[in-house]
Amino acid sequence: MTTYKNEKSTLVVRRMPFSFDNNINVHWNAARPEWSYMVNGASLVMPYLEPYLIRTMKQVLPKLTDPALIQEVKDYIGQEAQHYQQHRKFNDIIKSKGYDEISVLEQQMLDEYTHFEKTKSLKFNLAYAAGFESMALTVGHWLIKNRDYLFGGSDSRVASLILWHFVEELEHKCAAYDAYQAAYGNYWSRLYGTLFAALHVMKFSRRGYIFMMKKDGAWRNTRNRLNIIKYNLRFITGVLPKLIHSLLPSHHPTDIDDPQWSKDWVAVHEKNNAELAHLDTNNLLTPMGAGFKK
Ligand SMILES: [Fe+2]
Ligand SMILES: [Fe+2]
Repeated sequence: MTTYKNEKSTLVVRRMPFSFDNNINVHWNAARPEWSYMVNGASLVMPYLEPYLIRTMKQVLPKLTDPALIQEVKDYIGQEAQHYQQHRKFNDIIKSKGYDEISVLEQQMLDEYTHFEKTKSLKFNLAYAAGFESMALTVGHWLIKNRDYLFGGSDSRVASLILWHFVEELEHKCAAYDAYQAAYGNYWSRLYGTLFAALHVMKFSRRGYIFMMKKDGAWRNTRNRLNIIKYNLRFITGVLPKLIHSLLPSHHPTDIDDPQWSKDWVAVHEKNNAELAHLDTNNLLTPMGAGFKK
């Protein structure tokens, strides 16, 4: 049974003009260094997770019959390809600041996703993709709602990267879910895939930031550790309500309306994408379109 609800794909594959260079600080949010580490850790996962999602979605394409859904999956693939390529550029800069040994973690991620593809069914991998996207939807809402707290006054390049990424995560919230429903539709596997993907991605993300914090001596600092707990608690309590909704049998991603800020972001992009790559992080609460650097 399919629960596909969209008439046609409206996804836009955007090539963002970010200007990453070596002067990006590991603590790109100077006021929130622990949050910076957490985002850096999550960013490290993207060039391994997102290509796996892309390969999985490519494999499901022959099983789909709805032309609009097929187009949406193709556009989803285009968006995810942009995401991991931009994250890789950012990650290369972060890694070059004394974290070369993080390649060990990168190899672990590559090995684990390759293992899934070799040993697990397409149904599992697609449930992982749909499950991860459910999580990304909730994370996107949380990031946008708390954008001033999390990104206020931070390096615009990093804030703009993360917020662009999650605006598009909201935009393509239906693609993997609808593909899974069309190809398999089993509720219990989707439930398992969501819980598995959420924990799996958090595991690698956590390993990444712990590695960097240990390298910098921050992991044994009580204040740094307490702040990590604080951000994690804020994150978990923030994403949990929508994540629980996504676990319900009746859930469809369109049940969760996009925040106005992300809708405005999309509208502004149609006029000028260069400015969205350089958001004014001192004015993140002003209505989108008015809060850019002049
Ligand atoms: Fe993405
Ligand atoms: Fe996504």
